[in-house]
Amino acid sequence: MSVLTQEHDRTSIEKSVENLAASVHKSEALNNDFYDRWMGGPLSFGEVSVFAEQYLARTVNTSVMVALSVLNTEDLDARVECVKNLYSEYGNGDPSKAHLVLLESFLADLLTRLKGEQVTAAEVRAVPALPTTTAFSSGQRALFESDDQRTVQGALLAQENLAYSMLTRLYEGVRNYKSVYATDDEFHEACEYFYVHIGEAEKDHKIQAAISAAAVCRDEDDLAVVTEGFTRFVDLTADYWRGVAAEMTRRKTA
Ligand SMILES: [Fe+2]
Ligand SMILES: [Fe+2]
Repeated sequence: MSVLTQEHDRTSIEKSVENLAASVHKSEALNNDFYDRWMGGPLSFGEVSVFAEQYLARTVNTSVMVALSVLNTEDLDARVECVKNLYSEYGNGDPSKAHLVLLESFLADLLTRLKGEQVTAAEVRAVPALPTTTAFSSGQRALFESDDQRTVQGALLAQENLAYSMLTRLYEGVRNYKSVYATDDEFHEACEYFYVHIGEAEKDHKIQAAISAAAVCRDEDDLAVVTEGFTRFVDLTADYWRGVAAEMTRRKTA
């Protein structure tokens, strides 16, 4: 194959990966009942609790999934991109800034303010995951543990592209509770989890995931396997949010 043809193939693979990544915007993983509700206005304490419990139950696994993507991706360039993502999940070397730590303190603090009495992160964690959340987590793990690096990279591409838009939507909804914070500064201080993701981390992860997904593709067949992993992750995510929205309805009327 000539150098020119090889270059053309690389460009076309990168373009396909880019289009695949952009397809999340039309999916039900981002356009759904849950987000409409979450951004639509303030919810009851019970409904916000459902979100907090299920979002935490699902997010506790995020860094482990990125770690699995490091282990289960052989291609060196792709692996290096995954390592950068993992390092950022763990607070760029500062344990107090690990994303899970920031999330737990945000959720416990918000619920405490809404309830008017102390809610701890341990209490939020102790609530059992919904069957749909458990299904999401086991489906996610199966993808990231796949012995086919193309499947792993497809799932990672979906996870990281959904994450940026998910975080901006979640943040928009969080602004509905600004009034429970004494000052604007206090609110923004509490929102560090969102700012690290929207301002930097998830932007980088999207770029890193696009590079690593393209790195494991040599041809259309590889791309098809990446697409399969990607689609499976998007579908799992849509089902996860459907479960959260349904539980909110139950908890609202309970
Ligand atoms: Fe994160
Ligand atoms: Fe990420």
